Amino acid sequence: MVLPGDGIGPEVVAQGVKVLEAVMRKFDLSIEMREGLIGSIAIDETGAPFPAETQKMCEEADAILLGAIGHPKYDNDPTLRVRPEQGLLKMRKELGLYANIRPIRLFPSLAELSVIKEPVLKGTDFVIYRELTGGIYFGKKSRTADYAVDECSYHRYEIERIARLAFEEAMKREKELCLIDKANVLDSSRLWREVVGEIGKLYPEVTISYLFVDNAAMQIVLNPSQFDVVLCSNLFGDIISDEASVLVGSLGLLPSSSKGEGAYLYEPIHGSYPQAAGKDIANPIATILSVEMMLRDFGQMEAADAIQRAVDYCIVNEIWTEDLGGNKKCSEVGDAVVEYLGAK
Ligand code: IPM
Ligand code: MN
Repeated sequence: MVLPGDGIGPEVVAQGVKVLEAVMRKFDLSIEMREGLIGSIAIDETGAPFPAETQKMCEEADAILLGAIGHPKYDNDPTLRVRPEQGLLKMRKELGLYANIRPIRLFPSLAELSVIKEPVLKGTDFVIYRELTGGIYFGKKSRTADYAVDECSYHRYEIERIARLAFEEAMKREKELCLIDKANVLDSSRLWREVVGEIGKLYPEVTISYLFVDNAAMQIVLNPSQFDVVLCSNLFGDIISDEASVLVGSLGLLPSSSKGEGAYLYEPIHGSYPQAAGKDIANPIATILSVEMMLRDFGQMEAADAIQRAVDYCIVNEIWTEDLGGNKKCSEVGDAVVEYLGAK
């Protein structure tokens, strides 16, 4: 299922699809693709940011590739009742996408683009597991003229299921899991600690550490190589993952996946970047790497490895878009990846 969405979404998704079609030819894979509406464009065309038709198609799919959601016409008017972001939140909730996975992998040849000094960055390679369908994002809300409430609540099962995924991931990596919370203040965080400790007993090889989110925000830029698997609740994960993306040098490089009860979702972590929409200047690498994550999750390791090598080739050979200081167009980077793949 392909959901191009808003802003630069359609441009970067076009490159992701182009690369996917190239590996399908090269590795003889057959994947059926359908396209749907989401976000601001869906509001314009149907009145809803996540139309029922899109939801139905997503429910029938195995995987979803999403571009971006958001339009500036909604950003400065808090009174608007229908907003593109609601489409994203509704999709996460309706499709049960409770775990958002954001790998933070550096490209050594881009280290100088990062605002963080190279010796500090060295060895940085971690993955964030962010809870995506609970917490303050989905808690009880109320509002009067002078008073507003956003409740942060978690049930044990919501923590257990993402903790399991995070521990499984840790087992495949360095066997270190860090829970980021605010257990010195919040009851919900204390439940997280309790439950993560219990699930951890099933994974005795994994070392668990705990950081308060304020300290974690510091540690991520002071000593990012200390992290392996980072686990957090919805809001903390939202904030920490934007911070972590700074390490890599450009938001345009980071893919993500979201997993849960039904179809998995793959999307670049960047937003809709409306100023660049239609200019063919956005970086498609994050979307292309999201396609790579998808292939990996579906066991297509060879195809995924091929995409990874092709992306590394582009990065090393300075086939760069503007955000990396290059002059290549979005579509030219897509073409270079396809060419490197050598697909017929
Ligand atoms: C993200 C985004 C969303 C979030 C917004 C657009 C609702 O920032 O995916 O990180 O807060 O989850
Ligand atoms: Mn965010």
